Amino acid sequence: MTFVINGKEFSATPRPGQCLRTFLRETGHFGVKKGCDAGDCGACTVLIDGEPVHSCLIPAFRGDGHAITTIEGLAKDGALHPLQQAFLDAQGFQCGFCTAGMILTCASLNQAQRQDLGAALKGNICRCTGYRAIEDALDGKTNVEQVAAGEAFGRSLPAPAGPQVVRGQAPYTFDTAIEGLLHIKLVRSPHPHARIVAIDKTAALAVPGVHAVLVHEDAPDVLYSTARHEKAWMDPDDTRMLDPVMRFVGQRVAAIVAENEAAAEEGCRRLKVDYEILPAVFDPAQAIAPDAPVLHPGRTKEQRVANAARNIVAEAHGEFGDVATALATAAVTYEGTFTTQRVQHAALETHGGLAWIDGSGVLNVRSSTQVPFLTHRALAQIFHRAPGKIRVFCERVGGGFGGKQEMFVEDILALAALKTGRPVKLEFTREEQFCATSTRHPMRIAVKAGADKNGKLTALHLDVLSNTGAYGNHAGPVLFHSCGESVGVYDCANKKVDAVVAYTNTVPAGAFRGYGLPQTLFAVEAAIDELAKQLGISPFEIRRRNVVKPGDPMLSPQGYGESDVRYGSYGLDQCLDLVERAMQAEAPKPVLSEEWLIGDGMALTMIDTVPPDGHIADVEIGLRDGGGFDLTVGTAEFGNGTSTVHRQIAATVLKTVVERIHLRQSDTAHGGHDTGAYGSTGTFVAGRATQEAAERLAGEIKQFAAQLLAADPAACALDRDAVICGGQRVSFAELAMTAKARNTPLTAHGNSQGTPRSVAFNVQGFRVAVNRGTGQIKILKSVQAADAGRIANPMQCRGQIEGGVAQSLGAALYEEMVIDAGGRIINPRFRDYHLPSFADVPRTEVLFADTTDALGPLGAKSMSESPYNPVAAALGNAIAAATGIRVTAVPFKPDRLFPLLQEKYGPK
Ligand code: FES
Ligand code: FES
Repeated sequence: MTFVINGKEFSATPRPGQCLRTFLRETGHFGVKKGCDAGDCGACTVLIDGEPVHSCLIPAFRGDGHAITTIEGLAKDGALHPLQQAFLDAQGFQCGFCTAGMILTCASLNQAQRQDLGAALKGNICRCTGYRAIEDALDGKTNVEQVAAGEAFGRSLPAPAGPQVVRGQAPYTFDTAIEGLLHIKLVRSPHPHARIVAIDKTAALAVPGVHAVLVHEDAPDVLYSTARHEKAWMDPDDTRMLDPVMRFVGQRVAAIVAENEAAAEEGCRRLKVDYEILPAVFDPAQAIAPDAPVLHPGRTKEQRVANAARNIVAEAHGEFGDVATALATAAVTYEGTFTTQRVQHAALETHGGLAWIDGSGVLNVRSSTQVPFLTHRALAQIFHRAPGKIRVFCERVGGGFGGKQEMFVEDILALAALKTGRPVKLEFTREEQFCATSTRHPMRIAVKAGADKNGKLTALHLDVLSNTGAYGNHAGPVLFHSCGESVGVYDCANKKVDAVVAYTNTVPAGAFRGYGLPQTLFAVEAAIDELAKQLGISPFEIRRRNVVKPGDPMLSPQGYGESDVRYGSYGLDQCLDLVERAMQAEAPKPVLSEEWLIGDGMALTMIDTVPPDGHIADVEIGLRDGGGFDLTVGTAEFGNGTSTVHRQIAATVLKTVVERIHLRQSDTAHGGHDTGAYGSTGTFVAGRATQEAAERLAGEIKQFAAQLLAADPAACALDRDAVICGGQRVSFAELAMTAKARNTPLTAHGNSQGTPRSVAFNVQGFRVAVNRGTGQIKILKSVQAADAGRIANPMQCRGQIEGGVAQSLGAALYEEMVIDAGGRIINPRFRDYHLPSFADVPRTEVLFADTTDALGPLGAKSMSESPYNPVAAALGNAIAAATGIRVTAVPFKPDRLFPLLQEKYGPK
């Protein structure tokens, strides 16, 4: 067959049944991505004869004789297509995994289609941006700034990888060709709770191309947690690489390693496994009841399982003052029980990786991870391998949102590479992503609150039951965090927390943006609003009267690690004012029939800028040949923007331009330790280490230049590409050359231990219209104010907020993983799960408080997770204001609202 791909003709015969997506990738067109392989996400979009198609749905042979354009061929001779330039100017991407497909679809739109982008872009999902930066690109907006040397910090500078991202050349995990690669597919448990009695490998091994069948007897018998934290004691040791006991539908049973995916899949189908079925429990309340099936019998407190016999992984109980008396004597009280659902991160790049052993005997693992250094540490422990004999690194990561703060593939990759001696690949399908990675913890939150007649909060009690699923990765830390800042942000004399997290025979929950706070805020912020309503004061006013102010203790009764939290800055008051003013601003009246009920709602959040108990970043920086700087940072880039911000910090301190800062990151073979890109720490922790390293290097450079010029170091200053000492000038390039000749390289190291920590704030406001006949919700206005200290990069920070609001709106309005009576997830596909598309996401007005943090790098604080946190709470409050109905479960789907509206307002 003859294919014309990007103007070049060549002949090839696709495999029978092969789709165009894999065919194009096998011919080196790595800009064609996989997000779902089901026609639901658009990451694989290419143009056939100018028309956008999802190449995963097209048989490759259909391309025969047609002109196929991938992102690599959209423009000729190294130039940029106008749309590629527009995406660069507007920075219409974050992780960039969707960007190639998005640009190709946008490039194919005619003027009429551009008038209805909701319809035109319905086949292209972006999980990061919230679509507004994409709309800006289509509107021809320029969001990036030009700045002078030394002024990078605080300005909207573009992501360094932007030109590669828009050309489809930024390498993600699988964007490389490796000779002799073997493919891994995993056999997964069909049962929610079962013991493996026997496995017969014979038929699987007989499949042509199958090299190995790895079962529990072949794997190290080591207990660990898939969760990665700096301190291992934060998570229970309850997981084996391959366990003879199955605890959820989808758990690994065996790994089949074969010459190609088809053989590996056939091996999976042929593997014979005999199970003894065990009783299962899916509801956390039933799981902690006496006589419930026990998931992890024999696990101990030393293994960080609080009460294995009752399926309790962790619990927290504490009280300040006397909540019962305070409630009994309060002028107004509110009690309610709220439930939140199981949602998926849905990063467009699925989990996966490659592993091989190089010529020096080093096991190399290249994976889609937020935590290469902690994964490296875990592999060394599990395989009893010297740390120097393992390297873990990531290329650009296609979204994470906390889901990649886990080790879901690297252990099995390492096992397969070590057993076969061949390079191996494991790439999860979208279904595996839903059924076998991690989710947000579903929670049931009972809240009781009381206030006096002046609107002063006198009592706050949270009773939380969290469902961690079959394993306890992140179970305790998420539970503790959920009851931390949500309670700590209010100044109240009587507070109580009772919180329990339970094992059930369901897919494990894990880290997810906000780390438990979105769930509890849904209840706490509703309770505060309900008290305000009873007292006749505004939601803003009751919060002003009750939130902590600088100097107030940020007390949370479960007593989790608040001791090193300080008010490095405080902008919550400004955020409240900003959102209140924006919500009150004149706006055109919506033209809606009387069926629509309109209401405003708001909610707030506080978040510690670093997780507790240690988050470490080591940074190296050095002057390099030619006068630029090599900056080595361990933290990963997955759309969080840290690679941009780290260069901005270094360039600002060194009084130069970002183009001179060459960043190397997320590779255990280079630089010191880094805990990882989670907990919103990329700017606050690694940024602080970068600042320290750059300041030290600036001092060294001035000292060295002063020596050379026989000048006073105090009279020397850095100036873009040189040092000026009095009237003399010596370039960075000359300094680098001289230092090299003298064998005295100019380098410096910076370190941050992530303590003391500061606090950041967000306030979200919504105006909604609810159709009382159908339960449909329209968002008429969305405003979020953020206190992120000095804003390192306003464009990127705005993007984080827009993306966080969009992702959270998805969870608040549509998304829900549904588990049937047998413990099986029945909607493990994007089309049944409903990620928000362009048409679903309103434009959010983003406002910033004006603060400078005393603890963060150059005054900045974190702003990655927290924009997500108050969204469901604010939306619930807006729905209550519009309808008079307090909806206590998310998502706010029409079928949930409809009966409540019918009951209150009667039939249509
Ligand atoms: S990978 Fe083809 S549409 Fe998602
Ligand atoms: S930038 Fe669109 S999915 Fe990450």
